[in-house]
Amino acid sequence: MKLSLLGLAMGLVSQVALATSTPPLQDKAAFIDHLLGQMSVDEKIGQLRLISIGPDMPREKIREEIAAGRIGGTFNSRTAPENRPMQDAAMRSRLKIPMFFAYDTLHGERTIFPISLGLAATWDMDAITQVGRTSAIEAAADSLDMTFAPMVDIARDPRWGRTSEGFGEDTYLTSKIGQTLVRALQGKSAAEPDSIMAIVKHFALYGAVEGGRDYNTVDMSLPKMYNDYLPPYRASLDAGAGGVMVALNSINGVPATADTWLMNDLLRKQWGFKGVAISDHGAIQELIRHGVARDGREAAKLAIKAGIDMSMNDTLYGQELPGLLKSGEVTQAELDQAVREVLGAKYDMGLFKDPYVRIGKPETDLKDYYGEDRLHRDAARDVARRSLVLLENRQQTLPLKKAGTIALVGPLADAPIDMLGSWAADGRPEHSVTVREGLRRATDGKARLLYARGSNITGDKAIFDYLNFLNFAAPEIVDDPRPPAVLIDEAVKAARQSDVVVAVVGESRGMSHESSSRTTLEIPAVQRELIKALKATGKPLVLVLMNGRPLSIGWEREQADAILETWFSGTEGGNAIADVLFGDYNPSGKLAITFPRSVGQIPMYYNHLSIGRPFTPGKPGNYTSQYFEEPNGPLYPFGYGLSYSDFELSDFTLSKTALKRGEPLQAEVTVKNTGKVEGETVVQLYVQDVSASMSRPVKELKNFQKVALKPGEARTLSFRLDEDDLKFYNGQLQHVAEPGQFNVQIGLDSQNVQQQSFELL
Ligand code: BGC
Repeated sequence: MKLSLLGLAMGLVSQVALATSTPPLQDKAAFIDHLLGQMSVDEKIGQLRLISIGPDMPREKIREEIAAGRIGGTFNSRTAPENRPMQDAAMRSRLKIPMFFAYDTLHGERTIFPISLGLAATWDMDAITQVGRTSAIEAAADSLDMTFAPMVDIARDPRWGRTSEGFGEDTYLTSKIGQTLVRALQGKSAAEPDSIMAIVKHFALYGAVEGGRDYNTVDMSLPKMYNDYLPPYRASLDAGAGGVMVALNSINGVPATADTWLMNDLLRKQWGFKGVAISDHGAIQELIRHGVARDGREAAKLAIKAGIDMSMNDTLYGQELPGLLKSGEVTQAELDQAVREVLGAKYDMGLFKDPYVRIGKPETDLKDYYGEDRLHRDAARDVARRSLVLLENRQQTLPLKKAGTIALVGPLADAPIDMLGSWAADGRPEHSVTVREGLRRATDGKARLLYARGSNITGDKAIFDYLNFLNFAAPEIVDDPRPPAVLIDEAVKAARQSDVVVAVVGESRGMSHESSSRTTLEIPAVQRELIKALKATGKPLVLVLMNGRPLSIGWEREQADAILETWFSGTEGGNAIADVLFGDYNPSGKLAITFPRSVGQIPMYYNHLSIGRPFTPGKPGNYTSQYFEEPNGPLYPFGYGLSYSDFELSDFTLSKTALKRGEPLQAEVTVKNTGKVEGETVVQLYVQDVSASMSRPVKELKNFQKVALKPGEARTLSFRLDEDDLKFYNGQLQHVAEPGQFNVQIGLDSQNVQQQSFELL
């Protein structure tokens, strides 16, 4: 995109350089130091302000503020015609310091890909690269310079609505995806015209809010923090992400926004992070309600001392920093350090070289920013179908034949907004291919498709109102006013005339969102009534689930003949779902998060620590660790997902049984497609440190490979394990590999594994 802009950028003489006769642009540190030396205190403080541009904001006032050097960047405004006047205003400011324009581009900008939890289920780094690159290209063409992504918060409590925004429960998988996305978003460099800067969030541990209730406190031991929760942030930063967004929560009693240990000692000193730290929305002000700042003045002081460079949508830096500097409570050096990071980010985004690098010239403006021609539909369809997870398939109910009559029912079968999922950037519902549309296209001229809504999302008026309040731009969910029994009757009638029933049920997208925590993981009651009535028809029943978190679907599993987990699968979701339902694509997705049987089992994650009285299946249960009211263990384990093929693992060997330090270990296994169709599966490798100075997880993912195999084809895969893969943070937070026995487990999910052992000498 915008290749012509590249030439433009290269030919452009820096306007800043001309205005201030700065040192050469190539020398970042000297350039920024020189600029800093020319800035007034007010101009410096202005750079620390990141403001949200809402539809009703007084644009002229904002431009005046920018021209006066009082705003450093904005978020939420996108498209060149919207942002250019603001950049023009910056070019009228005394020092002509460019603005940057940011947005939450999480799983696509115009073309919407599956939600992050769905992306994780692909276990496919090529697909994730495709998502990151496409998102960056579209966002940059929207004149955006920066995205608040990826979100790499480990989530082990699915009550938390933002589980949908992350990559699940596993440290290794999340780290790998975070890294891959950062590289894809930033491309060759964040300065390229078709790259955007990645801001990793939410630093730190936001996914561990107590009780899964959004914005709640986090309390965590240091080994757990270092071993399980921090590595994905670090991996994403090490991959070159330009910045972090700081979490809203407190950690062990200290709000992250005021946490000097987190921000200075860990992030900057230990990790050597050099980049911009941005607060979350209004977080500095919230330090007062957290109970650590008595007023706005103290809040601003705490935040800047903790190393929050930019304040997001908050007036406190503007209001309070002048007084704090005057009194000496905040030093000039502290202010300069924050400004240096903001200018550094702008430098890295290529904005000093060309403030219009992504905005372009008026003549390059698109005719229609919302046009169909902006979309990358093929990529969206390909990634979406890779994200779908086949949970059940009794008597090979799936794939369906494109023949006979199919009843399509459920409140999510024809739900364009829900296809997009939460944080869908500038994705448009009118571009969504719904399940109904996808099935219509696939069956056109071949099978008869009957449709009935069957039920509303929820029968609970309070929940309905809550979900519609969340997104005030337009109603998120619209009820069919007819009584529930009438809706069900209509669906049952359709089912009776059909050979098979496909019911699209689950959550509306707003149910898996920021500030949408739940106390149950069940499908709402009205939808379960529908499932019951459909089951009673005796027709084969396929459940297509849409949801942004694991659901406890033990009862549904008994009713259904097949279950396909589809998350919120994006612009092309309906086509992708049809591809899988009819076997035009063989499902290969694997869960990146455990599905518990009930909310009472939470937290439930596969890589829990060893304990003294583990429950052993088949043994009497007394005085072992379990709940006696339901079977132990998950409904569906991490790493699980079926295919229309069968895969078998054999000949699992380790290259050594005793390993010297520094030596690599090879694990080999043969995987064979024993089914009748071509397909892909993910071979997963887990490691257990059997006896160490601390209890260690029963297993931890350390590697995986996704392989495509023809029927009858076998391939031997080789995995390499290094000493680093055996290391963990011990009680003294030393990163060590301790001698002793290790088990290596290989499987097609985290539960059914084969095991070999070796000794680390
Ligand atoms: C969210 C962030 C997001 C920000 C800006 C906040 O409410 O917590 O994840 O980046 O808004 O939209």
